[in-house]
Amino acid sequence: TISGVKGAPSTSLVVVSNRIPLSFAMEQGKLTATPSSGGLVSALEPLLKEHGGVWIGSAGTQDSPEIRAQLKEATCGHHYHYEPLFLSEEEQAKYYEGFSNEVLWPLFHDLQTHCVFKPIYWDFYRRVNQKFAEAVLHVTREEDIVWVQDYQLLQVATSIRAQRPRSRIAFFLHIPFPPPDIFEKLPWRREILQGLLDYDFIGLQTERDQRNLVACLRTFIPEIKLDGRGDHRKVVSARGVTLIQVMPISIDFHELASVAASEAVSSRAAEIRCESPGLCIALGIDRLDYTKGIPERLRAFRALLRDQPEFRRKITLIQVVVPSRENIPRYQELHSEVEKLVSSVNGELAEPGWTPIQYMHRSVSHEELLALYKAAHIALVTPLKDGMNLVAKEYCAAHVEDDGVLILSEFAGAAPELKTGAILVNPYDEVGVANALKQAIEMPVKEQRRRMLRLRHQIQSADIHHWRDLFFASLKRVE
Ligand code: G6P
Repeated sequence: TISGVKGAPSTSLVVVSNRIPLSFAMEQGKLTATPSSGGLVSALEPLLKEHGGVWIGSAGTQDSPEIRAQLKEATCGHHYHYEPLFLSEEEQAKYYEGFSNEVLWPLFHDLQTHCVFKPIYWDFYRRVNQKFAEAVLHVTREEDIVWVQDYQLLQVATSIRAQRPRSRIAFFLHIPFPPPDIFEKLPWRREILQGLLDYDFIGLQTERDQRNLVACLRTFIPEIKLDGRGDHRKVVSARGVTLIQVMPISIDFHELASVAASEAVSSRAAEIRCESPGLCIALGIDRLDYTKGIPERLRAFRALLRDQPEFRRKITLIQVVVPSRENIPRYQELHSEVEKLVSSVNGELAEPGWTPIQYMHRSVSHEELLALYKAAHIALVTPLKDGMNLVAKEYCAAHVEDDGVLILSEFAGAAPELKTGAILVNPYDEVGVANALKQAIEMPVKEQRRRMLRLRHQIQSADIHHWRDLFFASLKRVE
């Protein structure tokens, strides 16, 4: 039950996201389920454990008795469970790859030239969102609190409302919201905004996103009324009231810091440093996505080494790219662009015993990730635009000895929170990023500590618990 909210004690939490946090694979003829890691899971799973409820999402596979058994086992002994949806290949292609990731994803990251506005994608998006809504209606009661996550599911509230006008339905957008002159390119712009107004509550990452959403609502649905100021705004529409609140997502700071301080992570971090003896280690870790600014970053790194040869043999860049959305042509093109660039930089500049870029195209375990953070003297987090970017926060949490330098894009959602400790850069500015690298390499330990202490303090005081508290406080405001 969710205490403090009207309707308790019989209210439980319903999380709805594109995928449930389990992935399935066949290993030696046996089906295994691996719990996903990542921001959303560490934010929401503890809430479900605490309050009870259900997590609804696609299973990413076809239905079978083995899958059902694994799902049951995964939450055995807890008061919540996973409710899987099974999508056909066509639904996956047109709702997930199509509308979600070839329309909304690029558009919301200001890259409208990457958009493929196919009407059939929109049809499938609505249909699959309706399917999610039906699952919600099927396994929950009207008094439950439904919390829908991210851009894949903007229209879910609309179909729930049709059956349950009084349900409490909240939404959190993990990615940016674009300004009106970009959003207006979307052929279904009014429908998308109307769909959002079917939520009682919309959480956004930054003030930038809130400003943009409010401006889009004003422009394209002029009949609404706006109220409130600061980090929460109220929109009154024909349907009712929607609260729009800024609530930047974060990490479980203490948990991460304590694993980072463990013997296993510390010795692995020391090993990584030993493998690049005497070198300053810069680290990039990203999903292989064109919003992350990977080629731009590699070119800035090359510029530093080309123009200032004294840094050769002094620094190495460990770049991990985690495979992502591999069926989408843009992602395939980016994959080969990144690999060509890595090989051309290394081909041009490497010397016996020194490789400028150490490149990995795979996912790494949680422990290895923390060891990499800890081993890195510099983190290069330079997305062209990003909802938040938890790598930036995780890097700082892992630096339990208060050393290390964070170079952060001013277009990451994390920038407003972290600007006092990070070196902020424009990721399109090759010379600027190269200069920031130089500044980071040469930064005195004292200054590193001063900055890192500030960063860690900020992240700790607005951690994931704070984010959840903001959500529940906002729900009360909605009531
Ligand atoms: C971003 C989005 C998430 C998404 C994740 C991974 O962080 O905000 O909604 O789950 O990327 O992308 P994928 O397409 O693999 O789910």
